[in-house]
Amino acid sequence: MKGVVFNAAEAAVIELFDEDTWDDILDAAGVDGVYSSVGSYEDSEMMAIVQAASVLTELPIEDVLIAVGRKALAHLADRVPDLLGGCTNSFEMLRLIHDVIHVEVKKLYPDALTPDFTYTELPEDGLRLGYHSHRPLSALAEGLIYGVGDRFGETLNIKRHEPTELNKPTDKGASHVVYIDVFVEEVATPEVDASDTSQPSEAVH
Ligand code: HEM
Repeated sequence: MKGVVFNAAEAAVIELFDEDTWDDILDAAGVDGVYSSVGSYEDSEMMAIVQAASVLTELPIEDVLIAVGRKALAHLADRVPDLLGGCTNSFEMLRLIHDVIHVEVKKLYPDALTPDFTYTELPEDGLRLGYHSHRPLSALAEGLIYGVGDRFGETLNIKRHEPTELNKPTDKGASHVVYIDVFVEEVATPEVDASDTSQPSEAVH
């Protein structure tokens, strides 16, 4: 796994807890915690960190991955700002992951093994992302997707589930295939500044 993901996880844990917690997690995982963004580190090292974080925070592993992914998204997005400037909502950004964001990621970090995503429209304006990976990190993907929602002030409803016999994808390559169904529940309306008197609040006739 590329160091940039460890860097984003570190930033997320410090935001959620504090620096001491990150140091405690590294100690418990038995790793030195020195990660260059372009370096490559064993997947087992990330798994040891997630496992240690789960024990220390008393949260299930899946919840750790979701919480860390949610905060980590902003740090990953900071690495590719030019790609995201045109996005105005979550679905636009989600549709860029496979063909644009992770393609750029592979240019920046040539040996990166990013997961594949497929896209299917769902009824009621939903979007299904098919997560295809050799790593069991669909909960991390769920967290990152919540982070995309946060970026656009959208509350997302996300359901992860394994494909059934009826809708199994044809791709046999990846060992982990999980569907991630996303719906936009609510879009935050921008706050109106009450002290702004530049616009009359009501016309008087
Ligand atoms: C927008 C939502 C995104 C989602 C849902 C997503 C999903 C994921 C997931 C789940 C992984 C873990 C590896 C795996 O499961 O096989 C991953 C890996 C990675 N992603 Fe993304 N990603 C997103 C955006 C980004 C962005 C903005 C960057 C920008 C730097 C990025 C860079 C990477 C890198 C470097 C890896 C590691 C690949 C490796 O170590 O071999 N991702 N992505």
